[in-house]
Amino acid sequence: MSKLKWWQKSIVYQVYPKSFQDTTGTGVGDIPGVTRHLDYLKSLGTGAIWLTPVYPSPMVDNGYDISDYCGIDPSYGTMEDMETLIAEAKKRDIRIVMDLVFNHSSDQHPWFLESKKDRTNPKADWYIWRDAKPDGSAPTNWRAIFGGSAWTWCEERQQYYLHTFAEAQPDLNWENPEVRKALFDAANFWLDKGVGGFRIDAIVYIKKPEFADGTPDGPDGLVGIHEMTANTPGILDFLHEFRREVFDGHDIFTVGEANGVSPEELPQWVGEDGVFSMLFEFSHLELAYPEGEIWCKRFPWKITQLKQALTASQKATAKEGWYPIFFENHDQNRSMHRYFPEGTDPKTAAKALATILYTLRGTPFVYEGEEIGMTNVAFPHIEDYNDISTHGQYEYALKKGFTPEEALKCVQFQSRDNARTPMQWTCETNAGFTTGKPWLPVHEDFMDCCVEAEAEDGDSVLSYYRRLNRERTTGAAAEILQQGTYEELLPDDERVYVFERSLDDHATYTIVNFTNEPVTYDAGFLKDAKPLLGNCKNPEKGKLRPAEAVVYMD
Ligand code: NOJ
Repeated sequence: MSKLKWWQKSIVYQVYPKSFQDTTGTGVGDIPGVTRHLDYLKSLGTGAIWLTPVYPSPMVDNGYDISDYCGIDPSYGTMEDMETLIAEAKKRDIRIVMDLVFNHSSDQHPWFLESKKDRTNPKADWYIWRDAKPDGSAPTNWRAIFGGSAWTWCEERQQYYLHTFAEAQPDLNWENPEVRKALFDAANFWLDKGVGGFRIDAIVYIKKPEFADGTPDGPDGLVGIHEMTANTPGILDFLHEFRREVFDGHDIFTVGEANGVSPEELPQWVGEDGVFSMLFEFSHLELAYPEGEIWCKRFPWKITQLKQALTASQKATAKEGWYPIFFENHDQNRSMHRYFPEGTDPKTAAKALATILYTLRGTPFVYEGEEIGMTNVAFPHIEDYNDISTHGQYEYALKKGFTPEEALKCVQFQSRDNARTPMQWTCETNAGFTTGKPWLPVHEDFMDCCVEAEAEDGDSVLSYYRRLNRERTTGAAAEILQQGTYEELLPDDERVYVFERSLDDHATYTIVNFTNEPVTYDAGFLKDAKPLLGNCKNPEKGKLRPAEAVVYMD
């Protein structure tokens, strides 16, 4: 066990501070709210808290538009609050992990305010500026990830600037060594404060290719920017410099957000010769999403596709690197709706996914509320949604010819606000999140689904998470679960996911029914193995109830 690093043995808990705990009655969560719940987080086995951005920001994209990389947004508290959080967490053996958003800044960042003035100022080359085409249109036909053209015209400078995401998030020019130095200095500022690592946002976009039009993929005549710019050759040179200048020599972990890096490419990115400790890749989330489509409906996907994606990531990180196991974050809708058919009992489904999360090889990343089984919401009006991407998707759906009612229905399923409703702590008003008016409505099911109620109930999702954590850290199977190898069994089964983890002469077998019906499977491989835990009482070998998950051990 000793061979593993601290962040390989614990879990990482992701906090979306705006929705976690408000201590001042503003309706917005804050940093003291995170400090308040450190003991709770410890009880889940948390060794690191990934805080989504808490820096000063106009909040166009809830903090992913940063106007000062070395400060704290007043709505979240002060630098002193942050220092208190880091210190109090450390007392409990928990490290704070900062979110580095270095592909872009806010358009209100002083760097951009200077850059946009003219073509000769000292920061003129800090962002990506280009002239218009001869007819005055944008330099390329790329569509920003949140919708609309990825180029915005700047009157002052008489040029367009590039933004992979929203207009208010101009892309930084990584080709400029001064930009890279400024960003690395900011990361080092946080290391000096004692943080335990970094999650690195949207990192696949930092290297830009030739600026050329692509083949349009939608009714707006544009092509998704991701297809044109993600993972451009040369990116790894920037990243190795990042590693040398910031990460090397520190007892931290790094996890890069890297949509579009395939499991086969992982070894270049993670491990001794790579750049990061771990990489979030999204092959198990983006099952059967057709390119250029609106993300608004459930696309038909096969359970074998999910199994293949997970197995490929497990194999790719078997020797080098390490896998961040996750089903949820602040950009995804709640996972039980995504992976299980409509009508499945949400609590059973939440526990089934938790079983995989804690028994695959890697570090489990738990997103706030996942551990109590929080579910999606469906707000009745588009105005009720805060998320900029939801609004972009809605506009796009209208352009595609959907009626406003259809467009709303469409975005309700995928909206990132599904994951951003306030954390449900108690059965009291606003689920104990705030004494004020919450910035986003609290889910109406909070009386049934909250920490207070679930802590008392031995059958709750929360109790199941705690149980899984005990098994993974101190239980009979702990060594196998942390260090054992991974092998998929029954790979062609379209209903059941089975994998074996083995170490020396012992093994665990995780078996999950992804359907909402009873199923049978050939249990020959289980031989004398005994049930270790599961989400239904009295499991029977060879049979599974709807969404049943069970772990056997021999
Ligand atoms: C990925 C983040 O997770 C997401 O929330 C954000 O909107 C974009 N990157 C842009 O920073």
